[in-house]
Amino acid sequence: MLLKNFFIGLSQNQLLNSLAKKYGTRLGAQSVVAGTNMEEMIQSVKELNAQGISATIDNLGEFVSEKKEATEAKEQIIDVIEAIHENNVDAHISLKPTQLGLDIDYNFCFDNLKEIVTKADQYEIFINFDMEDYDHLQPSFDLIDELSKEHNNIGTVIQSYFFESEANIKKYKNYRLRIVKGAYKESENLAYQDKQDIDHNFIQLIEYHLLNGKFTSIATHDHHIINHVKQFVKDNNIAKDKFEFQMLYGFRKDLQLQLANEGYNFCTYVPFGSDWYGYFMRRLAERPQNINLVVRQAFNK
Ligand code: FDA
Repeated sequence: MLLKNFFIGLSQNQLLNSLAKKYGTRLGAQSVVAGTNMEEMIQSVKELNAQGISATIDNLGEFVSEKKEATEAKEQIIDVIEAIHENNVDAHISLKPTQLGLDIDYNFCFDNLKEIVTKADQYEIFINFDMEDYDHLQPSFDLIDELSKEHNNIGTVIQSYFFESEANIKKYKNYRLRIVKGAYKESENLAYQDKQDIDHNFIQLIEYHLLNGKFTSIATHDHHIINHVKQFVKDNNIAKDKFEFQMLYGFRKDLQLQLANEGYNFCTYVPFGSDWYGYFMRRLAERPQNINLVVRQAFNK
């Protein structure tokens, strides 16, 4: 817990974030970030596709406090949509509403998102709204509610640590949903703190959506959960085109490939760009053993 709080603290440090941007993906981040530019990212996606794995692309961005930054992020995401289309790769977009200006002004953020969602809709590309911390949960759902009046290429994430996720998954069962454990530090008034409770709720939510909902993305590196899901879909005759497994780029690569080779739909979350620092620190907070990746990379340059 102490280490988790330490890395979450580092992830929120804006000075370190800007230094990291300046000095590039050193210190091992290149093993979990698929390049700092579009060419490198598209190359990584092509390599995944060649292994039968699709991609959800995250143009990394943190601490957006000025309209200019949010507008730049919007333009970059639209460029990624164009690149997916032009290169005909099997990929969609993951984005974070704060990156598009949610902390600046709700309507400004809505307009940015609308442009992105409309462009993606033209090419039938799906947009996943990643979920951030609790303060952004309801505004993110509000944006989704409003945008889905005109577009159905939108889905989002349900975080199993929140008590209210059971109600939310019922409300959003007609959406394509990614179900995760939850990556942020949340208060005990709002969220389960205990791993066992989170895992239990994770399984309940996955099973509910597999049985009642639209497409389910089960996003975890936890083989206990994955094995449980494999048995559950078998016992309940749930077709393989109703769900997929997801993992982050660079993690458990052997298991990613194994699941794809077993005939499951598999999608890798592909983060790219110069703003990798906060993303990387959250990965260390989740699992301090991930530091092994850092050390290995740092010595293998
Ligand atoms: P967890 O870290 O709890 O590990 C459980 C067990 O799995 C470990 O004890 C170990 O046995 C095994 N394991 C895990 N990692 C391993 C490794 N690298 N090597 C070997 N064994 C390993 N969160 C959020 O709040 N909002 C979001 O939008 C998203 N989006 C998202 C997308 C995708 C594709 C993923 C995979 C995750 C997210 N998350 C997220 C993050 C998520 O909430 C969660 O914090 C992390 O996935 C960590 O939890 P896991 O379920 O992966 O296993």
